[in-house]
Amino acid sequence: MNSQDTGSAQPLKSSAREQYEAFRARGLKLNMQRGQPSDEDFDLSNDMLTAVDAKDIRPGGLDLRNYPGGVAGIPEARALFAQMMDVTQGQMLIWNNASLEVQAHVLTWALLKGLPASTSPWATQKPQMIVTTPGYDRHFLLLETLGFELLSVDMQPDGPDLDAIERLAASSERVKGVLFVPTYSNPGGETISAPKAQRLAALTAAAPDFTIFADDAYRVHHLHPDDRDTPVNFVELCQEAGHPDRAFVFASTSKITFAGAGLGFVASSVANIGALSNWLNTQSIGPNKVEQYRHVRFLEAYPGGLEGLMEAHAQIIAPKFAAVNEVLSAELDGQNGNSELASWGNPKGGYFISLDTHLPIARRVVELAAGAGVSLTPAGATYPGGHDPHDRNIRLAPTRPPVSEVREAMQVVACCIRLASEEYRAAGK
Ligand SMILES: Cc1ncc(COP(=O)(O)O)c(C=O)c1O
Repeated sequence: MNSQDTGSAQPLKSSAREQYEAFRARGLKLNMQRGQPSDEDFDLSNDMLTAVDAKDIRPGGLDLRNYPGGVAGIPEARALFAQMMDVTQGQMLIWNNASLEVQAHVLTWALLKGLPASTSPWATQKPQMIVTTPGYDRHFLLLETLGFELLSVDMQPDGPDLDAIERLAASSERVKGVLFVPTYSNPGGETISAPKAQRLAALTAAAPDFTIFADDAYRVHHLHPDDRDTPVNFVELCQEAGHPDRAFVFASTSKITFAGAGLGFVASSVANIGALSNWLNTQSIGPNKVEQYRHVRFLEAYPGGLEGLMEAHAQIIAPKFAAVNEVLSAELDGQNGNSELASWGNPKGGYFISLDTHLPIARRVVELAAGAGVSLTPAGATYPGGHDPHDRNIRLAPTRPPVSEVREAMQVVACCIRLASEEYRAAGK
């Protein structure tokens, strides 16, 4: 793109350009793209590496080293994570290392065979799936790759646009459900309110097998012990609403213990867990029981248990979120997540902050930031097909770098927003 730093509003423009060139000259190499824990977070769970030894190979009589045990997971792990998901042990299935894999299993099974409430396999029905935008790129990738047509609805501060979901769900049997993040969403950090969750559980859908796929990846990832959003319980809400098998709620320990080396699991009705178990049983004799028991031993021994571990994470992560807000507010003259050039969230939990530029310049901001050594999530990634129709949304991931790098990176981002805004206006767009 051409440099367009001539024209009106000269003082601001030249200073943004000068500041940008100064950043470039520093040869920075900063990464605000990775939704990953930091090494400091991982270190909290290092005791898990040695949490099981030869004394522990037969908890409850079941030999962890051998096949038997079934596909729903060891009872100790089911019980522990049932507490986290606010369901009963029979409503939990603990699988291997990734919740995305569990999501893929359920969706693939629905496509090939149909869910218990289906009249025919979804693949025969040109299935459509509602997703929220901005949202998680891997949800879009998975659904699109499996052949779903995606129907986007807005994510609002209190959760998905329920009016739009109710309309879509009622419109056609092809609309098979909604996949979204109910607590501290990726990327905006929104949590669905209790009234909206009730409406979703109770809505009248054209499809008898309309399903809520709730990816509750950040259910326990609060940043402040005394100021939390309240996660909803879709399994219970659906039961109360007379749709007992409507919800699958996924989560994992990827951002609790080790990323990609933890446990992925799902909560649902007992009937759905039974049906999913039958499906998984054709593919595997069972999940990794040693890993499951390691998690149980480690989390039970951690001071304060899971809650204590999440508070320790919050102490590491909360200052990084605060740094993003502070630097953006200072550099863009903003207040309460709003400035003349951009607005951004200040979530109470989760892993991401969503920023919207007021002008359609997100791609240019990401490009400028890369030029100054700051890598950001590609613009558009938060929309299906990688295409943000407004070119405004940028996902910021502050968890992995240290606070000092988060600050520095956000100074660059703010500068790039100023520069890209000036370029846009100078070009008379
Ligand atoms: C909403 C959401 N779901 C799932 C994942 C990945 O989880 P897992 O490692 O359990 O597959 C992420 C990771 O960023 C995420 O943000």
